[in-house]
Amino acid sequence: MIEAEKLTKRFDGFTAVEELSLSIKSGELLALLGPNGAGKTTTVRMLSAILRPTEGRAQINGFDVVKDADQVRRLIGLLTEQPGLYSRSNGIEYLIFFGRLYGMSDEEIRARGLNLFHRFGMLESDAYRRLGEYSKGMRQKVGIIRAMLHSPDVLLLDEPTSAMDPHSSKLVRDAILELRDDKRAIIVCTHNLAEAELLADRIAIIRRGQIIAEDNPENLKRQLLGHRRYELQLDHSPNGLANQLDDLVKLEEIEGDRIRFVSEDPFSTNPQVVRRLDSLGLGVVALQELSATLEDVYLSIVTDESSSAQPQDGNATTTQDQS
Ligand SMILES: Nc1ncnc2c1ncn2[C@@H]1O[C@H](COP(=O)(O)OP(=O)(O)OP(=O)(O)O)[C@@H](O)[C@H]1O
Ligand SMILES: [Mg+2]
Repeated sequence: MIEAEKLTKRFDGFTAVEELSLSIKSGELLALLGPNGAGKTTTVRMLSAILRPTEGRAQINGFDVVKDADQVRRLIGLLTEQPGLYSRSNGIEYLIFFGRLYGMSDEEIRARGLNLFHRFGMLESDAYRRLGEYSKGMRQKVGIIRAMLHSPDVLLLDEPTSAMDPHSSKLVRDAILELRDDKRAIIVCTHNLAEAELLADRIAIIRRGQIIAEDNPENLKRQLLGHRRYELQLDHSPNGLANQLDDLVKLEEIEGDRIRFVSEDPFSTNPQVVRRLDSLGLGVVALQELSATLEDVYLSIVTDESSSAQPQDGNATTTQDQS
């Protein structure tokens, strides 16, 4: 449903996105993670036909983002980083403006819009206040409501919960999860790793315009860390004997009757660890894998060389918007 092939964007010779390829089928939700300036927003803007790729191509539901830009824009629901809200109109007027572009009736727009206002913890009266008076989180919510209004088959959400309080974030995540069904494809850019893990079927980590890792959260953790962590419970405290495992695994911690260790090859090491402890007179009561966090994975691959990341230019003037 979302296909990108060697998508590239250069701004004045600076490559923001480089030969990025992606394929997202219907029913899938991809979380795009990566440091500031990695190229997430630029990618989403190209996929939504707002920004013209320098090279490569992308299609949404078979429509090309350059040649069929109008169809693409109608097909997708988009939340941009800073949704440009017309501050003098009220929430409903704003939604009616966009809903009509999607061919919805005013009645439909009001009903669905108000439903989503409630859903995201806002009042009906908020829907009739001027957007200029909205708080940061409320502005973000209206941006999401606009993106979801016409129940689009393709949803591109750039940091949907970055301005939200924890409860609101959850309400929005639940709404996203509800939209994740067989016929939809969704991309969510986020810096919230727990959110990525909760929402995503697949996670792509992007750094300096390139995808450096892509898989489901579990596989990412298993493959990228190259080691797994375990906790052993013994029938009594090892009292200094634990260093006798040094040739097998890397000990992390000994606490009372528990030992935590790291192994790069658990199939080989763990049975040996148990036998060794047994021969030392220490009975193994339990051995369990400690789950790695996505943060472990993310930091392990992203922090590496990050000091040479490109400087950000807040006053960039080279925007080449298509519209
Ligand atoms: N209009 C523009 N003109 C020049 N450079 C730009 C423009 N838009 C983005 N860039 C540059 O492209 C790179 C990628 O920016 P982008 O906004 O895609 O990053 P991001 O991954 O979304 O970051 P963040 O997490 O901070 O939102 C950055 O170095 C940025 O300065
Ligand atoms: Mg961004």
